[in-house]
Amino acid sequence: MITEKDFVFTTITNAIEKGNFQWSAPSNIALVKYWGKKDQQIPANPSISFTLNHCKTITKLAFAKKHFDTSPSLSTSLLSVTTDTFSFDLLFEGKPKEDFKPKIQKFFERIEKYCPYLKDYHFTIDTENTFPHSSGIASSASGMAALAMNIMSLEKELSRNFGTEMTEDFFYQKASFLARLGSGSACRSIKGNIVVWGNHAEIEGSSDLFGVEFPAKIHENFKNYQDTILLVDKGEKQVSSTVGHDLMHNHPFAEQRFAQAHDNLAKIKIIFETGNLDEFIQIVESEALTLHAMMMTSLPYFILMKPNTLEIINTIWKFRTETKIPICFTLDAGANVHILYPENVREHVLQFIKDELVGYCQNGNYICDTIGNGSQILT
Ligand code: PMV
Repeated sequence: MITEKDFVFTTITNAIEKGNFQWSAPSNIALVKYWGKKDQQIPANPSISFTLNHCKTITKLAFAKKHFDTSPSLSTSLLSVTTDTFSFDLLFEGKPKEDFKPKIQKFFERIEKYCPYLKDYHFTIDTENTFPHSSGIASSASGMAALAMNIMSLEKELSRNFGTEMTEDFFYQKASFLARLGSGSACRSIKGNIVVWGNHAEIEGSSDLFGVEFPAKIHENFKNYQDTILLVDKGEKQVSSTVGHDLMHNHPFAEQRFAQAHDNLAKIKIIFETGNLDEFIQIVESEALTLHAMMMTSLPYFILMKPNTLEIINTIWKFRTETKIPICFTLDAGANVHILYPENVREHVLQFIKDELVGYCQNGNYICDTIGNGSQILT
């Protein structure tokens, strides 16, 4: 079994002076939700998600080796300051973005143990999203995944310089492992199309440490599955995911919820094999409502859904009953609604969205996405 020790970089090399990489990584939408965690971003229960295709972060990482003046005249204290800090500039859409820096600093601190070469370099991280800024779509999953991929590209080069060729499996596993330390669900944004994160008795190779591609058969019905994201509320969330996860400690229903997630994952595994869309809908909607029920029953309790979230859910239910078209909704930790449906009903569903749901979206905004392949190297 792979343990966290396997991800510690031990090769000693400093041969690469400078360079850059560029990766894109997509967002993902959980079907069985991760809500509640232990130390070190270990999930309290396993989860499974669709990797998206269009909602992405694109991040360029430029790196240059720091050069330290080791002349005797330089005081040792100054020397230790320069060698002992992470050094990076952060640009968002080409402009410096100071308020993103603490998150990156924390990420570097968390992963330093596994990537000890980070302090040898000065980094310029240049990042942008394909989805509109402050759309209410969290960019932490795609953002941390894209950064982790770039760091692994650097590590791969460092290993190569030392004469060791990193395997593809290790490359992606460690990228997911690092992304998890940045933001839990980010570990599911490395690969496509369906990713499991968290130990599960019936999912071969599943791990609490990183996400794995769903290893079993996937029915044709789920090929090119669609996700249209209705942007109900683009504002800052009143309660962050970090606080929400934390409230699962001492939550009165925590144990039942974690057991239910294991159960639902076992069920959805069979559904992916059989292609039973009615059963898929039931699990996915129940998971979304359970996630929000956990928020409403924690102490302090909170509600992230908005009146329009409920209007949309009721309209979807009515449409489904009347047309028998297998669409369903899911929610992440916010008010936006993800509508999931098979590709063969796309035209019909998009017309329904235009006719009946656009009015509930803030400024009429929604984003059409589909299931996708995961992170991609650009340079
Ligand atoms: O990765 P975090 O800490 O932002 O948590 C994500 C939690 C949910 O989006 C609500 C569920 C999930 O599994 O993605």
